[in-house]
Amino acid sequence: MTGNEPTNEIVLGVTAGGGGAAGAEMEHDNPVAGLFDDIEGTPGVAKPDPILVAKGVRRSFGGLVAVDVDYLEVQRGAITALIGPNGAGKTTFFNLLTGFDKADTGHVELNGDSIDGVASYKLASRGMVRTFQLTKALSKLSVLENMKLGAKDQGGESMAKALITPLWRRRENEVEEQARGLLDRFNLTHMSDEFAGTLSGGQRKLVEMARALMTDPELVMLDEPMAGVNPALTQSLLGHVKQLRAEKRTVIFVEHDMDVVRDISDWVVVMAEGRIIAEGTPESIGKNQAVVDAYLGSSHDSALDFSDDDTPSEASDA
Ligand SMILES: Nc1ncnc2c1ncn2[C@@H]1O[C@H](COP(=O)(O)OP(=O)(O)OP(=O)(O)O)[C@@H](O)[C@H]1O
Ligand SMILES: [Mg+2]
Repeated sequence: MTGNEPTNEIVLGVTAGGGGAAGAEMEHDNPVAGLFDDIEGTPGVAKPDPILVAKGVRRSFGGLVAVDVDYLEVQRGAITALIGPNGAGKTTFFNLLTGFDKADTGHVELNGDSIDGVASYKLASRGMVRTFQLTKALSKLSVLENMKLGAKDQGGESMAKALITPLWRRRENEVEEQARGLLDRFNLTHMSDEFAGTLSGGQRKLVEMARALMTDPELVMLDEPMAGVNPALTQSLLGHVKQLRAEKRTVIFVEHDMDVVRDISDWVVVMAEGRIIAEGTPESIGKNQAVVDAYLGSSHDSALDFSDDDTPSEASDA
């Protein structure tokens, strides 16, 4: 688990063994344990209780079809990993699901209601949030301010109004209390007054995740949450993701590191060339011939290895 160097090594078939990232940390309840045991791992397979459904979602850039998803159900309360070789369309699909990009065709439903064309910031009040890379502007704010701004951003409120209008003061106090509580939970209290720009990459990821919880979301979408994070903080992040599931939240995350995927996912969705080519349990997915072929046929550089690259194709998130 060393380098950033391009590799074509396939580690899909490796069983967790000692390579798993879980370690001997605290146990987290898994309310959906065993739920997927009898679900057939075919693309588009129905789930017992889907929170999110994508139907015929397509997005092209010029002549390139970046996303072409016929049908996907995401199980409520589970941790679903979205994996695939570089350029498979994961980030684009993620952007379409979270209202950061608009599909050419297709429909997305959250809790049975259409969210087609709903702006990303409005999705927070519908229970869906996602994480971002921190922008430069936010690095000039303290960690606590970032947390508070997270609530405002996601809630679609005006920060200036919220800060200066007396009517909003009580709400402000609540927000601050909530922010401090989350910072405590993520062991970030000692960093509350530090500029976010001074944090390590891993600490920023923790702040991002903590900030996403400011609106008490049902569905948390994490865009490469472990990218660029050192092993010690990865442990901590993994624990926090499992904790989200223990709280009965739903998590969808894009990830390249198969140890992480095996450790925390209940279900894995595999994309290649815009399509969903396989779904299955983490144990089954590495044995899926279509998945192995997709990775072999690709020229992936960071897929399925332990890249430290912190500059994934999240540019469109900024
Ligand atoms: N804004 C854009 N304009 C043109 N092409 C784009 C744009 N965004 C993505 N693409 C193309 O769409 C395809 C899918 O890209 P996407 O970033 O979604 O892949 P990915 O699975 O997230 O890859 P990676 O694992 O490298 O992050 C790629 O061929 C990419 O070059
Ligand atoms: Mg991407």
